[in-house]
Amino acid sequence: MKDAAANITYLKDYQKPNFLVESISLSFKLFEDGAEVTNLMHVVKDLDSESTELALDGEELELRSVSIDGALLNSDRYLVTESGLSISDMPADCQLEIVTWIKPQENKRLEGLYKSSTMFCTQCEAEGFRRITYYLDRPDVLTIFTTRIEADKSLYPNLLSNGNLIESGELDGGRHFAVWNDPFPKPCYLFALVAGNLHCQKDTFTTMSGREVRLEIFVEHKNSTKCDYALDALKRSMKWDEEVYGREYDLDIFMIVAVDDFNMGAMENKGLNIFNSSCVLAKPDTTTDASYQRIEAIVAHEYFHNWSGNRVTCRDWFQLSLKEGFTVFRDAEFSADMNSRVVKRVEDVALLRTAQFAEDAGPMSHPVRPASYMEISNFYTLTVYEKGAEVVRMLHTLLGAELFRKGSDLYFDRHDGQAATTDDFVAAMQEVSGKDLSQFKRWYTQSGTPRVNVSSEFDAQAQTYTLHFEQSCPPTPQQEVKEPFVIPIELALLNGDGGEQALSAFGGQKSAVFELTEKTQSIVLEGIPEEPIPSLLRGFSAPVKLNYNYTQHQLLFLMANDSDGFNRWDAAQSLALLELNAIVSTVKNGGNAQLSSAYVGAIRSIISNESLDKAMVSKLLQLPSAAYLIELAEEADVDAICTARNLARKQLAFDLQKELVACYQRNQGCEKGLSYAEMSVRGLRNTCLALLSANANDEFMSLCRKQFVNAQNMTDQVGALSAMIASGNKQDADDLLARFYDQWKEDAQVMELWFSVQSSASSYADLTHIQSLMEHPDFDFLNPNKLRSVVGVFANQNLENFHKLDGSAYAFLADQIIKLDDLNPQIASRLATPLTRWKKYNPARQALLRSQLTRIQGKSNLSKDLREVVDKSLVS
Ligand code: PHE
Ligand code: ZN
Repeated sequence: MKDAAANITYLKDYQKPNFLVESISLSFKLFEDGAEVTNLMHVVKDLDSESTELALDGEELELRSVSIDGALLNSDRYLVTESGLSISDMPADCQLEIVTWIKPQENKRLEGLYKSSTMFCTQCEAEGFRRITYYLDRPDVLTIFTTRIEADKSLYPNLLSNGNLIESGELDGGRHFAVWNDPFPKPCYLFALVAGNLHCQKDTFTTMSGREVRLEIFVEHKNSTKCDYALDALKRSMKWDEEVYGREYDLDIFMIVAVDDFNMGAMENKGLNIFNSSCVLAKPDTTTDASYQRIEAIVAHEYFHNWSGNRVTCRDWFQLSLKEGFTVFRDAEFSADMNSRVVKRVEDVALLRTAQFAEDAGPMSHPVRPASYMEISNFYTLTVYEKGAEVVRMLHTLLGAELFRKGSDLYFDRHDGQAATTDDFVAAMQEVSGKDLSQFKRWYTQSGTPRVNVSSEFDAQAQTYTLHFEQSCPPTPQQEVKEPFVIPIELALLNGDGGEQALSAFGGQKSAVFELTEKTQSIVLEGIPEEPIPSLLRGFSAPVKLNYNYTQHQLLFLMANDSDGFNRWDAAQSLALLELNAIVSTVKNGGNAQLSSAYVGAIRSIISNESLDKAMVSKLLQLPSAAYLIELAEEADVDAICTARNLARKQLAFDLQKELVACYQRNQGCEKGLSYAEMSVRGLRNTCLALLSANANDEFMSLCRKQFVNAQNMTDQVGALSAMIASGNKQDADDLLARFYDQWKEDAQVMELWFSVQSSASSYADLTHIQSLMEHPDFDFLNPNKLRSVVGVFANQNLENFHKLDGSAYAFLADQIIKLDDLNPQIASRLATPLTRWKKYNPARQALLRSQLTRIQGKSNLSKDLREVVDKSLVS
């Protein structure tokens, strides 16, 4: 047995590399049974370093030869292990050439060089490059890459890599080659190669300094009509980054390639982004509005990495949030500018509160900048991405837009071409603002979701209103005690007429940011004639759980009157939570419960209010998700929560039938356009239909069928399909599913939808149905999208069936994880997330979940990925 501690990498052990790579020349010869990789590096010893041993990373490589300055190395000069190649007595400056043979066709992990349908492609972040050749596979080794690719010309007419094409030509035997050079130094995780027979859609973008950049999207020929939207989103992203951050694109060409088999959403390789097909391909009859918005956000995200990630990269993987948190913040602001700022914020906060808060309360909880890891792939998390983005957003709030921009300019300037740390980022913000950010940095090092309790006191005589704040943070793995955070709380005080009080403690502003820095703190506001209603944490100004004891009346008031759109939604959520929690407790005691008439009335007036933003109305009509109710509960009773939610939906559908149908009818048309306004109309009619499905009477059935048949876009078609599935009318659902299948079976992206709409529906898909979907000819266990759309969706969204008390679904999930671990450990590990949340449930379910974790733990040859997750989950 290996010592467990030996498998852990610690931030505190960081040391700079003892060798530098001045340049690298890679040559790939691609064949149908494998690939030969020749790696010629100019290697130079670091002046400060004593050691002359060069330890290169490498996994599953077949070493063919090693030579230094042209002379073959004797095998006693180097040592090959499972994890690398080390060479002793290295000269201080030499040309090191390593030839390896790899087998992309057998690579099911989708890391390194692999085949996706007919094309060769790569994925190197975080540590995939070591599966291509021996190298210093760490982000702080930056160098200039030249890449030569050679392959059969008829099978692989397109040969792509990073940077600019500098040479290409024909070779004997029907083969050809291309040579690419990337003039910008980069770490190897940003390396990419693609060889395939692809359709290329071209466009151009003229940068702010007047340079023309060629834009090219490469897709399989069958997808040639699905490139327009991504190209358009790319151009908008390029323009936005110039306008908002002053960042211009730097190469003459920017390429995107769509691949079907991909572990994540997309990858920002320099000049050659590689995308999961589902995150880039789109056309109106096959793509839902939700997908359009996702594609826009991801295209932007990957493009923005060209500065936040590529020009300035990470020193080590503990700094991952330096690029990801910042880039998520950037893409969120972009989406807010392209669509609706409030709706975007609502969506992001909902994700944070359900999924990130759950992660932060579970066994894998870690700081935005983790201190250690066993497998870095496990740290591409909601905490690093979404909470990391919230931390950057707080800096933006604390500094203001202008100083924040000064800080980002300084950061990009100072660290251009370098590998930086989150400390460097904060230092730039501190320098431009003169604000001491040392306490603020606890957001990077302390895990867990802080709580803020707020109470108020009104003194009518003195006309003062006092707010008392108290912050705390629950213990998390390896962090028993937390120091106070800097928590920016934007607030306002609402009068009875909905107007806002001038805040004496904040220079008379009507909405101000209070910085909570102590464990407890109070503010006294003077000149307040009547007791106001506080609007707190406006815009969700910090990623915390804020608690103030609002009455139902106050929440109704805020929901109707708060000038902060986010807080109007949040008041509606709090209101719904009060209602749902009351129903949950009644259900637990076997009683019969109802929504209050005040609540139903408030929802009624929202549906009927035609002056509200339609996308916002959709958000206000949606009850908090079951996942959120589970996250909030101490010991979640899944059955009671789902029952209560279903009851509430049914009552809304019944009581508001007339208004919902009227709203549905008012919001027809807008069949094709992709503007925010048109999407909002489609969104609202489908929200109404979804709610009506909870009381599936004849009127619903006829509306739903009619919508399915007449749909002119995928949002309406799949909206009708999922409403029918949710309605519980199995025969009708089967019928629509079959028709949908016949219409779209050739389209992989639509088939993912077809799988997921049924897998998520608790009234339709039990475990047996899930198992039958896995036998379906269009299912593919090794394709991450298909696997997620059935198994992932089932375990994360179909809660009633996944949590069946016989434990059958838990065992099923463990079976899939065990089977997948030998093939694709990254995905296996991610699929295990629902099992790790065992502490949330009652003792019977806890035992069942734990026993499946124990089963997985006992598997032979368990991957590092899964080992880390199960070991951490079973502690305590
Ligand atoms: N860096 C990618 C992003 O933009 C995510 C990713 C990580 C993709 C690891 C593949 C592998 O967020
Ligand atoms: Zn990213």
